[in-house]
Amino acid sequence: MHRYDAVEAASYRVAREISLTGLSSWRDAVEPYFLPGRTVLDLGAGTGLFVRAFAEWFPGVAVVAVEPSADMRQASGLTMLVGDAYAITVPDASVDVVWISTVIHHVRDLPTVGAELRRVLRPGGVVVLRSLFRERHEGVGLFRFFPEATRALSSFPTVSEVADGLGFAVDRLEPVAQVTALSLAEKASSLRWEADTLLRSLSEQEFEAGRARLLEAAAVETGPVVDHLDLLVLNAV
Ligand SMILES: C[S@@+](CC[C@H](N)C(=O)[O-])C[C@H]1O[C@@H](n2cnc3c(N)ncnc32)[C@H](O)[C@@H]1O
Repeated sequence: MHRYDAVEAASYRVAREISLTGLSSWRDAVEPYFLPGRTVLDLGAGTGLFVRAFAEWFPGVAVVAVEPSADMRQASGLTMLVGDAYAITVPDASVDVVWISTVIHHVRDLPTVGAELRRVLRPGGVVVLRSLFRERHEGVGLFRFFPEATRALSSFPTVSEVADGLGFAVDRLEPVAQVTALSLAEKASSLRWEADTLLRSLSEQEFEAGRARLLEAAAVETGPVVDHLDLLVLNAV
């Protein structure tokens, strides 16, 4: 598991957190699962981006956050439980939805995590993932400027590796758009090597060359930066 430290936690807030407006397609995509009265577990909640989003979008839903990194918990400024995917610190059959956003590539022992997910989910509960999968990376614009970052894809699982590894069935799979930044210039100014698994795979030279390409494009392209990650909904089998 990658341990996010204090520098990464601070950088994550600058580089990876997206405005709630930029995430509005994600709101629409997950709305069917976030019904009033339900309890949602945000597993690997990081700096709390989605804890805050869900509180605003779905006020009738109770959100419990579990996060292993003390620095990420502290950077969030929110109350989060200490725990991780192998030891989810909530009681048996206590949640209706487990939300896992850009975390599953950090998990190596999927069967153990699958057993934990089945333990904490109520009957009929679902796992809702937001992720980059190895075989479906066309929606990530970063590769245009940092082509060497595709090397890091080898550490990302495929959809079937995740579903089969966890022992769940695929119910829904589709790319969902997000406005990652209002412009390439904004993206360039918030870019942080340490905040992203893909960028961390680059040498300093590769990173600087990519940043130069990004700045060059930012001088002429003024539109918003739109990326796609996948929504994957899993049911217990
Ligand atoms: C890329 S961040 C995503 C944070 C948040 N889910 C989001 O979408 O903004 C990855 C997070 O996963 C956490 N993490 C890493 N390994 C984990 C594990 N085995 N179980 C739970 N969380 C884990 C990290 O500490 C980090 O906060």
